[in-house]
Amino acid sequence: MHDFVVVGSRLPVDRVEDADGGTSWRTSPGGLVTALEPVMREAGGVWIGWSGDTGPAPGPFRANDLDLVGVGLTPDQFRDYYEGFCNATLWPLYHDVIAPPQFHRRWWDAYVTVNRRFARAAAEQAAPGATVWVHDYQLQLVPQMVREQRSDVRIGFFNHIPFPGYEIFAQLPWRRPVVEGLLGADLAGFQRRADATNFLRACRRAVGLATRGPAVRVAEPGGTRKIQAAAFPISIDAKGLAETARSDDVRKRAVEVREALGEPGLVLLGVDRLDYTKGILHRLRAYGELVADERLGRRPVLIQVASPSRERVEAYQTLRDEVEVMVGRINGAYGEVGYAPVHYLHQSFPREEMAALYLAGEVMLVTPLRDGMNLVAKEYVACRNDETGALVLSEFTGAADELAGAFLVNPHDIGGLKDAIVRAANTGPAEARRRMRAMRKRVFEHDVARWASSFLDALSGKPAGSAAGGLLTSDAGSGDAWPL
Ligand code: G6P
Repeated sequence: MHDFVVVGSRLPVDRVEDADGGTSWRTSPGGLVTALEPVMREAGGVWIGWSGDTGPAPGPFRANDLDLVGVGLTPDQFRDYYEGFCNATLWPLYHDVIAPPQFHRRWWDAYVTVNRRFARAAAEQAAPGATVWVHDYQLQLVPQMVREQRSDVRIGFFNHIPFPGYEIFAQLPWRRPVVEGLLGADLAGFQRRADATNFLRACRRAVGLATRGPAVRVAEPGGTRKIQAAAFPISIDAKGLAETARSDDVRKRAVEVREALGEPGLVLLGVDRLDYTKGILHRLRAYGELVADERLGRRPVLIQVASPSRERVEAYQTLRDEVEVMVGRINGAYGEVGYAPVHYLHQSFPREEMAALYLAGEVMLVTPLRDGMNLVAKEYVACRNDETGALVLSEFTGAADELAGAFLVNPHDIGGLKDAIVRAANTGPAEARRRMRAMRKRVFEHDVARWASSFLDALSGKPAGSAAGGLLTSDAGSGDAWPL
């Protein structure tokens, strides 16, 4: 039994096969686990999640000093719940239908079944009066399912991706049970104020509830219960990443990367999961035209890391083909022996290598068509300890609300995107420093630890700014005060 229960779609560890055929677990480095580890330790917490494969459910175990409970997925559930409802229904729907969402009743049934399994595990692990924190779109039914079994616990939910406008959300045949699932929480957190507002609207339209400011009241057997919806923009472990970027090995590696490129002119960088929300094709189109127009000087190089993701889902396969065709066209048309304008890496890299790439890239291109936050933008900023470098950032990311020093772009406007890249590349050192300093201030002051403590303070009903967190009085750069 634990006083603090994190329920996330994935465990913060990866299963690795040992040489002797056994299994061990390696911590997957992520901001979320870094932020929650201290809280987990202090409160004797447990993390419930999926191990990422269709092997046997690991059940409760301990790895790297963390108490974990692994929930397993059968091959059918992997197809219908994970690839289907999570990533071919909800993901495109919540990202403004960039790809058409597919609605299948069998997928929905699997979503209900898997959410129930997570909820049961959470109800079993929670001590009396515990705090249960449920994460992301894969588990939207869990708050209400936990509440039905355990009315004594406090339940928080945080959505890491956007919550769409009602006109889009309304397409979902199961819009009402999804909203009712979320309403099991005491506090529903979102990346941006607009997401929280969209959720409140869905409460009114899909369920017919009245909302008052950031609060919704639902009728329950013993009276009414209040749910708060608010924005808590997530962040990264800025200090930890800056330290990594400061290490001799990483700095040496960044020099090696640049040397390996020959004598590059400008080095631009893109880092994304290979996902259609990320605007990779728009970025390549703009960059390809800039190379053709010779507006980026002699021999510019774009390093594009596109880490493999959801590879059996059709829209991801199509995107991969399109990206690879476009990279091939640009390199074919404008490359020379010993020079390729695009260095495309369909791979994942460890944190140190990523930090070296962030140091090697003078201009970072973050051009999603829609993104809940985009932590890559914040990671780039955290790594630039010498305050050089420029960030080109899509308006359609949560990060754009906070990173006022970026060159903001509409990625659909290829002409505007090209101009912004040229401007970012040609910023004078004084202006570049001013912009980077402002962004670094924001990212270091609002790191992931502060995000977690402000959410947990709000969930426990502490008044604004009472504890170490304090995001409550200074929400995103747009000047919004919390709540809403
Ligand atoms: C986004 C989601 C996460 C998800 C991650 C990777 O960041 O918000 O919940 O875990 O993508 O996607 P995957 O399908 O590999 O878990």
